[in-house]
Amino acid sequence: MASLDSPITIVRPHLIEFGVGTAGKLGKWAAEKGYRRTLVISDAFNASRIDVLELKGEVSVFAEVTPEPDTANLEKVLAAANRADAELIVGFGGGSAMDLAKLAAVLAGSAQTLHAVVGPNKVHGPRKVALAQVPTTSGTGSEAGIRALVTDPATMAKLAVESLHMLADIAVIDPALTFSVPARTTAATGVDAMAHCVEAFTNRKAHPMVDIYAIEGTRLVGKYLARAVRDGNDAEARAGLSLASLYGGFCLGPVNTAGGHALAYPLGTRWHVAHGAANALIFPHVLAFNTPSAPEKTKAVMEALGRETSGNVTSVFDAAYAFCAELGIEMKLSGLGVPESDLDAMADDAFAIRRLLDNNPRDLSRADIRSIYAVAF
Ligand SMILES: NC(=O)c1ccc[n+]([C@@H]2O[C@H](COP(=O)([O-])OP(=O)(O)OC[C@H]3O[C@@H](n4cnc5c(N)ncnc54)[C@H](O)[C@@H]3O)[C@@H](O)[C@H]2O)c1
Ligand SMILES: [Fe+2]
Repeated sequence: MASLDSPITIVRPHLIEFGVGTAGKLGKWAAEKGYRRTLVISDAFNASRIDVLELKGEVSVFAEVTPEPDTANLEKVLAAANRADAELIVGFGGGSAMDLAKLAAVLAGSAQTLHAVVGPNKVHGPRKVALAQVPTTSGTGSEAGIRALVTDPATMAKLAVESLHMLADIAVIDPALTFSVPARTTAATGVDAMAHCVEAFTNRKAHPMVDIYAIEGTRLVGKYLARAVRDGNDAEARAGLSLASLYGGFCLGPVNTAGGHALAYPLGTRWHVAHGAANALIFPHVLAFNTPSAPEKTKAVMEALGRETSGNVTSVFDAAYAFCAELGIEMKLSGLGVPESDLDAMADDAFAIRRLLDNNPRDLSRADIRSIYAVAF
């Protein structure tokens, strides 16, 4: 793990508006900047309420973002962006909409294709349009980051694009927009936010400058997630989760996730399990597996979640499993419809995600991954 004197680069959106009832600040900001043509990239649910953003001028809406978007969905977004010729692109939705907005902002009207920009720092700048992000789930923290993920249907792998040119000019985080998130999605996305924090905290690249957000984000999820699952209109709990999600986003930039996300991805790409639900199912397994390599930090994580453990692997597993299961999350692969015959292929896919596995505090062999899937089944 890095120490205080290790170099680190931190980036943030130029402006972050946070708080219940702030959604309309986007329109005021855009008007002050003088943007006349805006394209909002959204899913069907959020597209039906873009009025809350109070955007003026010519506003077009792409309303067909699908969860865990694939390259075909991105192609449609790019076609819409080329037609709209907007001065401002707004991602309005969960991580799926925000990630496609990032890619639209750099790829529309550009000679570069998606495949040319996969990986870190491949995008040619400068970006020609302004970019705003308005999250409506509290999970991904994508509003604060420089990554976008799209599934390639040919390989069933997530293509990760990382570029400073995809950083938002403004992020407007209005927890009231998340009141309508159903309890199940609230639970899953909340654990996703926590997983970003925990996997950054126990990461090989963990850094004190990020740890502070990681542990506080974990604490916020421990304090507020069950409350928000019980009562979606609990404004304080929703705000706590929106903040946890943002802090998780701060963790993703310079440190990123590790084994948990690597093992969760094949559930989403191969079996269309929602990103948060996949992470929640995997979370206790990888946290327990990593415990011997990060005992102090694992203890701090469990304390932040409000769970006492003796610090041994079994008690960490039981406490982390209970935390997720009590939120009503399905914790068995078989319960999600994943067939046992696919576990080998899933282990192959997960083992190939080196960009994340190499961050894990303890080496995860293919056999380790396969046996975690077997236990989770
Ligand atoms: N860029 C990053 O750093 C990053 C980090 C983590 C995850 N991701 C990506 O983000 C995606 C997942 O994002 P997500 O978990 O936010 O889910 P999502 O964006 O796929 O949305 C999930 C579902 O919730 C609905 N929804 C969204 N907001 C709602 C609201 N307020 N009320 C009711 N329904 C609402 C959507 O229509 C959708 O059906 C994945 O593709 C994942 O890979 C990106
Ligand atoms: Fe995630």
